[in-house]
Amino acid sequence: MRITIFGTGYVGLVTGTCLAEVGNDVICVDVDAAKVARLNDGEIPIFEPGLDELVRDNRAAGRLHFTTAAEPAIAHGQMVFIAVGTPPDEDGSADLSHVLTVARSIGQHITRYTVVVNKSTVPVGTADRVRAAISAELLIRGLDVPFDVVSNPEFLKEGDAVKDCLRPDRIILGADSARAIEAIKALYAPFNRNHERLVLMDVRSAELTKYAANAMLATKISFMNEMANIAEHVGADIELVRIGIGSDPRIGYSFIYPGAGYGGSCFPKDVQALERTARAHGYNARVLSAVEAVNVDQKDKLFVLIERHFGGDLAGKTIALWGLAFKPNTDDMREAPSRRLLEQLWAAGAKVRAYDPEARHEAARLYGEHAGLLLCEHPHDALEHADALVIVTEWKEFWSPDFERIKATLKSPVIFDGRNIYEPRTVEAAGIAYYGIGRGRSLLPAHAAARNV
Ligand code: UDX
Repeated sequence: MRITIFGTGYVGLVTGTCLAEVGNDVICVDVDAAKVARLNDGEIPIFEPGLDELVRDNRAAGRLHFTTAAEPAIAHGQMVFIAVGTPPDEDGSADLSHVLTVARSIGQHITRYTVVVNKSTVPVGTADRVRAAISAELLIRGLDVPFDVVSNPEFLKEGDAVKDCLRPDRIILGADSARAIEAIKALYAPFNRNHERLVLMDVRSAELTKYAANAMLATKISFMNEMANIAEHVGADIELVRIGIGSDPRIGYSFIYPGAGYGGSCFPKDVQALERTARAHGYNARVLSAVEAVNVDQKDKLFVLIERHFGGDLAGKTIALWGLAFKPNTDDMREAPSRRLLEQLWAAGAKVRAYDPEARHEAARLYGEHAGLLLCEHPHDALEHADALVIVTEWKEFWSPDFERIKATLKSPVIFDGRNIYEPRTVEAAGIAYYGIGRGRSLLPAHAAARNV
């Protein structure tokens, strides 16, 4: 099939590449000429395991193209995907201007039946607005070209995006046209071979499904962060509680890891946007407000622990950070807990030496030559002259460190483990003070003492 994709961000680039991989002829369009030029030079603007090879192979096979030219791209596509960003506007609602600009462009250029597929995460009712924008342009042109708008939200995770796209858990399709449904079914047939993954529903339900999935996952995380905070107050260990509750298949082990708060391009934005949508329809979504509020506070957590450990005085201290990305296997720092922590440490007069396997360039782009930040090439370089080590992102390479070396390098050996990747006893046995998230001792030294007896 001939496919056109608007937007070469995570969703657009990965979707376009995976559709080319199964034999479709794909053109990806982006307004960012520099990005398109880089893609045409074989450079991938994001770090995503497996994506480089796939883009390279499909470009070489002549099935994947990048352009800024909307008109020929729209002429090419039997299906046109909208996969552009929906950043939060000032009040946290999703900003639809990019989506509607693409819709108008489609209306200006289509000449034959086209299926318009909305992949961007958009508030309920957006498909109607896309349809209206296309119809308005056709009216101006005095044409009556048939088209359908369907909702087909994307659920890929950064770091696993290629795998998620090639082997999706489910394919959500919101559509009310038999013709469009048949076309989408044919397109996704290669991804839908072993068992039926396509879940067909009306357009509004599909739009809400995307938000509901992200809000549910964010709720699990905020719930666990709340449990972790309770565990600290009562002297319990959240890691034991986590294993205890995860063994119930109704709860499950996934997405119940407490930590330094969720970040990334989806959860913070989507929880807020859904809460705003509900409010705009006259409903007060209290759970969503609480999920967001807990997460905002949780991003202060590491700083509070560090500040307390050093008696409220961080002036002149040097803090080593391991991890800057919002999660492992990505270089993305959008809404990352590291960003709040950096700003709080600087405001308190501390300096930071940071190491991240992939996000150093992104940190340099965000913070430039900030005097309080030294970006290190090796995890152990970050420890030099540092007073404390903070684990902010749980990259695999941090899981089994040389504790003796950490102890010997840090000025006052202490680890703040924002992802609970270490066993407190192992760290303490190495002569290093340890703070985790919800591990019964971070707030209440008395409990820690009792446990160690
Ligand atoms: C998420 C959804 O998982 C994906 O389906 C959707 O399409 C986009 O949003 P992503 O933002 O890439 O994907 O990352 P994800 O792996 O879901 O992690 C989000 C955040 O939650 C990270 O900051 C991560 O550290 C945090 N997290 C995750 C926890 O704090 N605890 C957990 O148990 C799981």
